[in-house]
Amino acid sequence: MVEENWRPGLKDAECYFACDPTCGFVGEVNGKPVGCVTLTKYGDTFGFIGCYIVSKEHRGKGYGKAIFDAALSSVKPSRLLALAALSHLEKMYQKTGFESVFYGTRRSSSNQYQSFVLTPSQKKENSLL
Ligand SMILES: CC(C)(COP(=O)(O)OP(=O)(O)OC[C@H]1O[C@@H](n2cnc3c(N)ncnc32)[C@H](O)[C@@H]1OP(=O)(O)O)[C@@H](O)C(=O)NCCC(=O)NCCS
Repeated sequence: MVEENWRPGLKDAECYFACDPTCGFVGEVNGKPVGCVTLTKYGDTFGFIGCYIVSKEHRGKGYGKAIFDAALSSVKPSRLLALAALSHLEKMYQKTGFESVFYGTRRSSSNQYQSFVLTPSQKKENSLL
């Protein structure tokens, strides 16, 4: 994550798992972790996806999509899901059915633009964003 200029907090993992002990998904190749994603469940109806990353040398081989799909299949299709995406990946998430509902800029050292996206199958009036 640090290589990607992400700056996770040292206690972030503890906070994630305190909120939802089953939120983390790690993909392994020959017993070694190559990527991860989180899908944190809030109550019975909402989930937020984050920490989606595959190590550079393993990208483009289908591992990321496999990890992502495993996370999605861990929750009922009716659950409202959201994520904050880098804008250059917007089209990729749209392939899975996510729809952009809000654009903004996150203040960070890299100052990259973010698009906030949400599943279209859910009613937007239920959105927590
Ligand atoms: C984004 C990232 C995790 C994808 O991992 P990856 O292992 O390289 O992706 P895959 O090899 O599984 O991709 C295979 C295909 O599935 C697609 N795919 C991957 N993840 C997907 C997702 N979550 N939803 C829909 N499609 C997806 C890819 O676009 C690709 O499609 P193509 O064959 O038509 O080109 C990886 O590029 C990465 O770590 N990037 C840096 C970190 C980052 O930007 N994370 C996302 C923050 S929003």
